[in-house]
Amino acid sequence: MKMKALGAAVAFTLSAAGTAAWAQQVRDEPIKPIQPYVSSNPAKVELGKKLWFEPRLSMSGIISCNTCHNLSRGGTDNLKTSIGHGWKAGPVNAPTVLNSSLALAQFWDGRAANLVEQAGGPIQADIEMNMPHALALDVLQSIPGYVAEFKAVYGSDRITIGMVTGAIAEFEETLVTPNSRFDQWLQGDDKALSAKELAGYTLFRDSGCVACHNGPAAGGTSFQRMGLVEPYQSTSPVEGRSAVTGVDADRFNFKVPTLRNVEMTYPYFHDGEAATLEEAVDIMGRLQLGRTYSKDEVDSIVAFLKTLTGDQPQIALPILPPSSNATPRPNPFQ
Ligand code: HEC
Ligand code: HEC
Repeated sequence: MKMKALGAAVAFTLSAAGTAAWAQQVRDEPIKPIQPYVSSNPAKVELGKKLWFEPRLSMSGIISCNTCHNLSRGGTDNLKTSIGHGWKAGPVNAPTVLNSSLALAQFWDGRAANLVEQAGGPIQADIEMNMPHALALDVLQSIPGYVAEFKAVYGSDRITIGMVTGAIAEFEETLVTPNSRFDQWLQGDDKALSAKELAGYTLFRDSGCVACHNGPAAGGTSFQRMGLVEPYQSTSPVEGRSAVTGVDADRFNFKVPTLRNVEMTYPYFHDGEAATLEEAVDIMGRLQLGRTYSKDEVDSIVAFLKTLTGDQPQIALPILPPSSNATPRPNPFQ
């Protein structure tokens, strides 16, 4: 089959959790289905969920992780670049947190190795939540409901930042989106995709998009240059991976973003400059593959991309324990 040609060039591995029986039913394609995540520590997930929605981890008292990674909106803020404390604009577009546990590293430039390492950053970043870790811990330690819950999860009376980031990361692990129509097709349901969507996928695969967008997340498996064939014009000062490695050849290399739920995560690219999927696909074709797609071709690839929207996490809003009289109060204008 034609699909083999590119598929074979792309190395991917099934996650260790995939059973052999399950794997056999899956079509041999460079994109793999997303598996549901079942945590072995539900109490830690619950605590992490509270901290995820906890605006008292911000200096202003109004910004939580969910402000910029809104789980009602595909785990993003749908802004070109994020707005944080003091209405300050950050330099990059907020990537989705959905399926981010599947990526080889966190952030556009991969500067955090994993979700635990990542979660410490935004609390104290001045353009995000602007909250020194010591103060964030004072706040949590002053709230009896949190002290009891941390004790139940970690067996300790003293809350540390490692416990906070560990619980948030455990919650984030659950934010996977299985069961998209594309995954149903991968698992053998021929009727899951329309003819146009399947043609879009075939074009996506055979023209080489899968060289970078592969694996269960259809991305997140490598760092790649933005503007491989033709340079990318951007006014953004962000230079990507070279900021981490110090290697000049890594300039404008970014972590390949996941295409899961991409219909919901507009606008696109690290600078948020592509407003629509049509625009993003056209740019990818020209800059990464040296190929100009017709309008029909773009439309069919976009139709395929929309089949990557999976079951969104079903989340009951957590009720956060009330502050005590001793809890440091927010300071929105600091
Ligand atoms: C003010 C908006 C804002 C807030 C608040 C915020 N983030 Fe982010 N987040 C971003 C932006 C922007 C990026 C991308 C930064 C970069 O790559 O340099 C990001 C990146 C991430 C990533 C990496 C995703 C990927 O695919 O690389 C994760 C995970 C994440 N944030 C989780 C969190 C958690 C957990 C919190 C709360 C403790 C949080 N964020 C708070 C805006 C925000
Ligand atoms: C050489 C590797 C490579 C190839 C080939 C490639 N991409 Fe990408 N893709 C990337 C990188 C890197 C980014 C992030 C670029 C940035 O943000 O500056 C990206 C971003 C995207 C985005 C935006 C996602 C988001 O959330 O911002 C879409 C959509 C996309 N690619 C689709 C495609 C399609 C369709 C093709 C085939 C026509 C393709 N890509 C081919 C590497 C690649």
